[in-house]
Amino acid sequence: MKENKDCLSLHELKQWMDTKWMGQTLYFHEIVDSTNLEAKSLGDAGALDGTVVIADCQKQGRGRLGRVWTSPAGCGLWMSAVLRPSFPPFQASMVTLVAAMAVMEAIEEVTGVQAQIKWPNDLVVQGKKICGILTEMSMEGSKIRYIVPGIGINVNNLDFPEELCGKATSLALVTGKITNRAQLAGAVCRSFEKYYADFLVHGNLAGMK
Ligand code: BTN
Repeated sequence: MKENKDCLSLHELKQWMDTKWMGQTLYFHEIVDSTNLEAKSLGDAGALDGTVVIADCQKQGRGRLGRVWTSPAGCGLWMSAVLRPSFPPFQASMVTLVAAMAVMEAIEEVTGVQAQIKWPNDLVVQGKKICGILTEMSMEGSKIRYIVPGIGINVNNLDFPEELCGKATSLALVTGKITNRAQLAGAVCRSFEKYYADFLVHGNLAGMK
């Protein structure tokens, strides 16, 4: 497999976004610093609950603990959402797990690959990282103003920087096939809606299977 490009565009993404609210307000950038930074400024500017930002390439993809998240063009699904929940801040960390469940289900639905959640922020396949999640929050007094879950999925990457070799993998390396990133984005948003609704009802993750 030499050619590993699919075509990611706002038009293509909208075609796969068959959701009720998540991703119905959708921003796509060819290149951006970080979709998390972008989502946070949209959150500061009053963006609606469920607004989603997706980029083909991030110049300053942010990982946990101040790390860099390698986000080349044409390869990955780099996406962030703005959520405006009314639950208390101590429950916010559960959003990361909701996102992880959603990505796991979406990956299986679209590619048949069964990823495992490596608590709390990663998904792994065959022991190698395929997805990382960075959840950030903004507060107003003691209440949540917004939460931004940022999801990075290695989709069509055929190689990684030296420091990630042996540690990271992609759906293309696992399946030998190109995955349509817009289709995967739609599936992530649909699954997210489902698990998040369960979480809002139960206040915990008990309802999630
Ligand atoms: C980690 O495993 O360290 C978390 C990585 C999170 C990366 C995603 S890619 C989309 C979003 N935008 C960012 O800058 N980071 C997250």
